[in-house]
Amino acid sequence: MIVEIEGIPLHLAHPDELSVTWVGQEEVMRQLLAAWLVIDSADMPMNPRLLGKPGVGKTTLAYAAAKRLGREVYIMQATVDTRPEDLLITPVIEGESKLRYVASPLVTAMLRGGIAILDEGNRMSEKSWASLAPLLDNRRYVESIVAGVKIKAHPLFRMVATMNDDASTFDLPEYIHSRLQPQILIDFPERHEEFAILRENLPFGDDKILNYVTDFLQQAHAADERYTARDGINIARYAMKLMHEGVDSALDGGAMTTAILETLGEEALRYVARS
Ligand SMILES: Nc1ncnc2c1ncn2[C@@H]1O[C@H](COP(=O)(O)OP(=O)(O)OP(=O)(O)O)[C@@H](O)[C@H]1O
Ligand SMILES: [Mg+2]
Repeated sequence: MIVEIEGIPLHLAHPDELSVTWVGQEEVMRQLLAAWLVIDSADMPMNPRLLGKPGVGKTTLAYAAAKRLGREVYIMQATVDTRPEDLLITPVIEGESKLRYVASPLVTAMLRGGIAILDEGNRMSEKSWASLAPLLDNRRYVESIVAGVKIKAHPLFRMVATMNDDASTFDLPEYIHSRLQPQILIDFPERHEEFAILRENLPFGDDKILNYVTDFLQQAHAADERYTARDGINIARYAMKLMHEGVDSALDGGAMTTAILETLGEEALRYVARS
């Protein structure tokens, strides 16, 4: 799809279609939806950031919340190499001495009134964040130096950034932090929620295996270990495959130990309940 801005044709990105459902932890979902609300003609939507350990469900929550609003969702994966033009508009050579301007998922969401997820935003440099400063305050626009255009966000445009609380990240300056508010922290789920998350992601999973993995995860959470639902899903998935293949048919000791060992390493075995 092509949209013309100030006489410049812009090629838009495609929305992301994922089949995810958010399970449990309804409070963080409501906080995110509340941050996006506009409750008065003088009000503004906020630009929340979701913080939590890798695999705790940040991207899933952002996507599921956007889908609850029935909007198009555009995921913009941030990395250490993300440049300001990657966030906005990139020129692509098209034939002889002709340029095609391609809008990023973020700019596409701005134009279409969709929702942009700036995923793993903490990996992005300050320079790239700086290009978004006017978008994140009451100006709600970006300026593309490359294409020489100013793009205003559609009134329905919303955004959310996800960030890991690990060390492989830039420390963002205060003027960026203050524009990415509120900060919504995703913590480990309760036992019944964790079981439901495993069930949602492994609908074909055996109850016994899912219970076993849930117990393992809860033990690890109690010790403030970094293991998350993603690890649990991988362990359960692998254990079921091992058993299916007949490598290790016994649940305790056999398949489960191998799955935990080969997913998280030896230290993880200390959280296995002894029977
Ligand atoms: N509440 C939940 N409901 C449904 N699925 C969940 C939930 N929490 C976690 N998951 C599942 O756990 C896995 C990891 O979630 P996700 O990718 O959203 O984590 P993340 O925090 O974005 O991780 P990363 O920091 O590595 O990007 C996914 O398979 C997701 O489906
Ligand atoms: Mg993620």
